[in-house]
Amino acid sequence: MIEIIGPLVHAGEATRIGADTQPASLQKQLIERLQQAILGGRLPPGSLLPSSRLLAAEMGVSRNTVVIAYEHLAAVGYVFADQKGTRVSPLSSSTSRDDEPTACATAPEVAYAARVGQFAATRTHADNTFPLTPGTPALDRFPLTAWRRALERSMEHALPVALGYGEPTGEPALRDAIAAHLRMARGVRCEGAQVVITEGAQEALNLCVRLFTNPGDIAWVEDPGYRGAKAAFNLGDLRTLPVPVDAEGMAARSDAWLTQPPKLIYTSPAHQYPTGAVLSVARRLALIAQARRSGAWLIEDDYDGEFRHTGEPIASMQGLVDDAPVLYVGSFSKTMFPALRIGFVVLPRAIAGHTAVALQEMLRGGHRLEQLALARFIGSGEFGRHLGRMRRLYRERQQALRDALAQYFARAQVLGGDCGMHLTLRLPPGLNDRSLVARALAEGLNPRALSSFALQPDASTNGLVIGYGNTPAERLAPAIQTLAALAREMDGKGAQAKGALKARPKQPH
Ligand SMILES: Cc1ncc(COP(=O)(O)O)c(C=O)c1O
Repeated sequence: MIEIIGPLVHAGEATRIGADTQPASLQKQLIERLQQAILGGRLPPGSLLPSSRLLAAEMGVSRNTVVIAYEHLAAVGYVFADQKGTRVSPLSSSTSRDDEPTACATAPEVAYAARVGQFAATRTHADNTFPLTPGTPALDRFPLTAWRRALERSMEHALPVALGYGEPTGEPALRDAIAAHLRMARGVRCEGAQVVITEGAQEALNLCVRLFTNPGDIAWVEDPGYRGAKAAFNLGDLRTLPVPVDAEGMAARSDAWLTQPPKLIYTSPAHQYPTGAVLSVARRLALIAQARRSGAWLIEDDYDGEFRHTGEPIASMQGLVDDAPVLYVGSFSKTMFPALRIGFVVLPRAIAGHTAVALQEMLRGGHRLEQLALARFIGSGEFGRHLGRMRRLYRERQQALRDALAQYFARAQVLGGDCGMHLTLRLPPGLNDRSLVARALAEGLNPRALSSFALQPDASTNGLVIGYGNTPAERLAPAIQTLAALAREMDGKGAQAKGALKARPKQPH
């Protein structure tokens, strides 16, 4: 046996051979040697091991050491006892034999789930702190002092209890605060009991998929539309149907309700992402009525509806009629900051009770101090004041962006802007939006390609989605001038623009 597993190192020997550390116990060494010999195929399945007495004598250890080693190996399944003694167990045939070269020198291919392949590589690595990033709020204007105070107060009042598990659907204080705010600011018909706190809007979308669909169901999504919704549908193994968008928002064909009946419909009615269209009231009512008839659920993503810039605020679709089949999804990523990772879904009153049991199993709560601090932040009026300040700031920045676009992209069509923190610019067909975005990124600017939001890209989805939330007004004109110069250069007509590019320093980050 000693030829197969090698001699053990006894404590005295280690010092003689100059080893720095003491060897493992004889018992541990014996277990490891036997395990390696079994896994390496030097002790094949079924082979009979020597009796404890014989092995003890051969290895120079006590019989008890061998007995304990055999017992341990039997307990984890390497060996088993029969009438003749202790034998090696039949382990998986794929176990590698260390005396044979492996057939394949490279690591085996990872078997991904089929849905992983459905994610198209449309997102380039980009720095979200760069000017013109869509969806990033003015982080340097966030009232950190007030937020720190809210966090500290929550710690004073809620610790140590709040270190434990909380309600899976979120802190009741936050659910109530959100419900009160939504009733007043967005016309949502809800109570705190209908609000489920999630890890941002993304988890809310995933939750809608899990609660209301089965694999293979059809989900409609605006096209161009929010990639997060498509990702959630992919993860739920849904069949996604792109629905075109026009100036009145999502434009569903009436026959599609029969030919491709949806289980879920994703829409961003207050400010369609990314074209900025506002879903007309007629279409809202039609969607609600049809969804009711077909047993479908509408997901209303109200991601930036708090920042309305023109006319009267447009109330939510959820609040248009009582008990509408609408799952109202919201997020604090824009109104507070994205790293907070707090969002929510408002479930219809009629089903909030039915889903409670499933939600207790599906969710774990968490981030309790942040949730309690947010409830305090909303309740104290800080949130409302911050929204008011940001609304004014974003209006000013949007105007600066509009002025710059009028100056440098005079002939291009500008879409959206009734709400939020981005405008969308249509580009002429010859100017590839993805190439322009790649060049802009190299210049330290981060607009997104409109076509990267489309499942069926065409000439109408060639454009730029330009964020102004994180870019000071005075930096917008130089940034748009840079974009225009890049565009002209790509268009091949830009001898003058090329000169301007050379002279222009990179955008400071
Ligand atoms: C259309 C849309 N919905 C929702 C969100 C917010 O997602 P989350 O709350 O997961 O950050 C975003 C953020 O960019 C968005 O663009």
